[in-house]
Amino acid sequence: MSQNTLHADYPWTNPDAPFVVAAPMMKITLGRLAVTVSANGGLGFLAGGFDLSPLAKDLAEAADLAKSQGLQLHDGILPIGVGFQNWGSDLQLALTAIKEHPVAAAWFFAPKQLSDLVDWAKEIRAVSGGKTKIWIQIGTVAEALEVAKTSQPDVLVVQGADSGGHGLAQRASLLTLLPEVIDVLAEEGFNIPVVAAGGIVDGRGAAAALTLGAAGVALGTRFLACDEAVIAKGYQNQVLNVTDGGASTVGTTIYDVVRGIHGWPRAYNGRGVANSTYHDAEQGMSEAENVQKYKEAMQQGDAGWGPEGRMTTYAGTGVGLVRQVMSAGDIVRSVQKEAIQTLQKSAAKHVK
Ligand SMILES: Cc1cc2nc3c(=O)[nH]c(=O)nc-3n(C[C@H](O)[C@H](O)[C@H](O)COP(=O)(O)O)c2cc1C
Repeated sequence: MSQNTLHADYPWTNPDAPFVVAAPMMKITLGRLAVTVSANGGLGFLAGGFDLSPLAKDLAEAADLAKSQGLQLHDGILPIGVGFQNWGSDLQLALTAIKEHPVAAAWFFAPKQLSDLVDWAKEIRAVSGGKTKIWIQIGTVAEALEVAKTSQPDVLVVQGADSGGHGLAQRASLLTLLPEVIDVLAEEGFNIPVVAAGGIVDGRGAAAALTLGAAGVALGTRFLACDEAVIAKGYQNQVLNVTDGGASTVGTTIYDVVRGIHGWPRAYNGRGVANSTYHDAEQGMSEAENVQKYKEAMQQGDAGWGPEGRMTTYAGTGVGLVRQVMSAGDIVRSVQKEAIQTLQKSAAKHVK
């Protein structure tokens, strides 16, 4: 399947520009953000997270929003995707929601074991009559190959080590991971388009990923700074202020601990800005005391964020490139435009 086929499967996307996706971000990427991205030539994923009890209601709201923005159903399908954190998600709730509001794509991430995704893929394809495409986000070459063989995804999302939020603790950056995944899939006879995620914040990063062979790019951290994100001001301000993400962010499980989130598979951690929660844990503070201090920080509202604060600022290493809050539609268009310009400039400079 070529990049054009990706556009063909999601016909509202701009065929004359790179394929830009808003990755699902739990509690942050809901209907408004997903719908706005799709209404502006990209593909937005509403985050289902791991508690799917509000999903049917969230999709109903997204359907109303899509209607109000003039975003047409395509073949009876709502032109957005839904992202699942499979380790804690209930398949029956997912099926009920998708049956009521069929979506263009279902994005799987972080199952307890990869084999769990076989049933998810089969059942969602069955309930949607094959109209809901299956996307699977993976972090290693071995994972890519295994899910290609077992779940036959329509799209593979390759998540490199720079990504914000959760990801495999041990994995490579896109620069090496993406071409190796593409090579191995081709060698094994798979023809699955690959979308790159992790550290792509602007058109330059998008151009780099496309040059490495990606059929499209998925951005998370960049969309933390958009008008349509459901995000506290204190969190969003940190995304704008923090620089030098390789030094200022860390992959850790302590932010799940203080937030009372249990059940992530052991191979995962979450990348966020290092703050007092993290530094105190490193210095040996007990989990109980850290949780208590986190609860106190929650009372401070927007002042609870920041490198000296305790509230979690999940973000990728690209956080230093995020400088201003924009509308989600402008982000899609600016990434597309800059990617094209970057590719043209680069070719003019380097290709005789
Ligand atoms: C705040 C935040 C929350 C996230 N939540 C989810 C999620 O619920 N499901 C998921 O599949 N990925 C989640 N991710 C990871 C994204 O799917 C994606 O891999 C990542 O954002 C790409 O890297 P970037 O942040 O550098 O753009 C999250 C990322 C962030 C930054």
